[in-house]
Amino acid sequence: MTVEYKFPEGFWWGSATSATQIEGATGKKGKNIWDHWYEVESNRFFDNVGPEVTSDFYHRYQEDIQLMKQTGHNTFRLSISWARLIPEGRGQVDQEAVQFYNKILDELIANDIEPFVNLFHFDMPLALQEEGGWESRAVVDAYVEYAKEAFRLFGDKVKKWFTFNEPIVPVEGGYLYDFHYPNVVDARRAAQVAYHTALASAKAIEVFRTVDVQDGKIGIVLNLTPSYPRSNHPADLKASRIADLFFNRSFLDPAVLGEYPQELVDILGEHGQLPETQPGDAEILKANTVDILGVNYYQPRRVKAKEHLPNPHSPFMPEWYFDHYEMPGRKMNIYRGWEIYEKGLYDIMINLKENYGNIESFVSENGMGVQDEHRFLQDGQIQDDYRIEFVQEHLKWLHRAIQEGCNTKGYHMWTFMDNWSWSNAYKNRYGFVSVNIDTQERTVKKSGEWFKQVAENNGF
Ligand code: BG6
Repeated sequence: MTVEYKFPEGFWWGSATSATQIEGATGKKGKNIWDHWYEVESNRFFDNVGPEVTSDFYHRYQEDIQLMKQTGHNTFRLSISWARLIPEGRGQVDQEAVQFYNKILDELIANDIEPFVNLFHFDMPLALQEEGGWESRAVVDAYVEYAKEAFRLFGDKVKKWFTFNEPIVPVEGGYLYDFHYPNVVDARRAAQVAYHTALASAKAIEVFRTVDVQDGKIGIVLNLTPSYPRSNHPADLKASRIADLFFNRSFLDPAVLGEYPQELVDILGEHGQLPETQPGDAEILKANTVDILGVNYYQPRRVKAKEHLPNPHSPFMPEWYFDHYEMPGRKMNIYRGWEIYEKGLYDIMINLKENYGNIESFVSENGMGVQDEHRFLQDGQIQDDYRIEFVQEHLKWLHRAIQEGCNTKGYHMWTFMDNWSWSNAYKNRYGFVSVNIDTQERTVKKSGEWFKQVAENNGF
């Protein structure tokens, strides 16, 4: 068989998940903000489905790891649930949780699947949220202690660590646009949350490298959403540049370059939105940049100049500077409502090569959500040709980026099996493996079989 798109030797093929979205067994852990939000406002969750069971990975991890093998994984990203490992967020470590994560890591390694471990995927322990969550500097210290504990406990088995997944999402969801707990809408508080998260990441990296001296690599996973202007008109270009500053560079620059873009600092300063900092913080950020960058890519951001100037008396929001627009003729994922623009992945990688020192990177999430996916069931299997096409077209652009010298080491799908997703619960299915949420029965989709071939051939 001719392999037209061959990837470099040792390419990482796999998928990503997060603890809250797959583990279930919430009764055996401390509460996080998701358990709490569901208790107080279950109507904010699709079909009123909460995180108590999800895909029951807690009990079915052995079967699931076999399915990972069957779908060609050589690597797999999971996250540790902070509130499972340390139920109150700081202090006592739960020994049952230590055993649980050790069993998973051992099982993965025994099956030749390298574990990539992420420390935080949107799941703040409730006890710490009650202290102010990421708005509180003391919570940054608690996070660093948690990271240190995780490195100490699992550092012999894990050689790829990530401090955060998509840290901008809790900022947007929890503090700007009201789609995550604690449902605050306040740009100043959002800036504080963002700043403390970036600082927490740098401090965890410092501990990883100095205090605990681990071998292996440490990075961060960012959702990079390339910002495309409607036209080359200077006002459109400016709108797009500012959207990029807020939604990409606000985390990318401190993580990889160790400092914030001056233009972002100036804009926030002009509006009195700058976060509180402490002496020495800038040095910590500068000295503790990432070794490796995970890139989550789903869709681009299409931006045009603001049509009406914002009311200067209304509260400040990033949207003071740009409007979104729907590009005519864009290709859509009609099953989820997101634009599909495969070349965006190439543009991201080229940007990393040209402007971010060609940092070692990989695609840490890319995938296609589909509502009511059972309509594609035939003879007991989901025939998800649309997903195969989606992945293949993205991989073609990734391949081209690598050929042009981008330092890209792998491709992880979102996600391994259908899972519970935040307030969307089970609405959008993303897996290579379908999960019947009533019976927990797993069935490999057509895309899972296809992915195995791709991984085995190291290309297609
Ligand atoms: C990614 C997140 O951005 O999007 C995942 O890292 C999430 O945690 C995924 O599940 C899909 O989101 P949704 O809302 O389409 O289910």
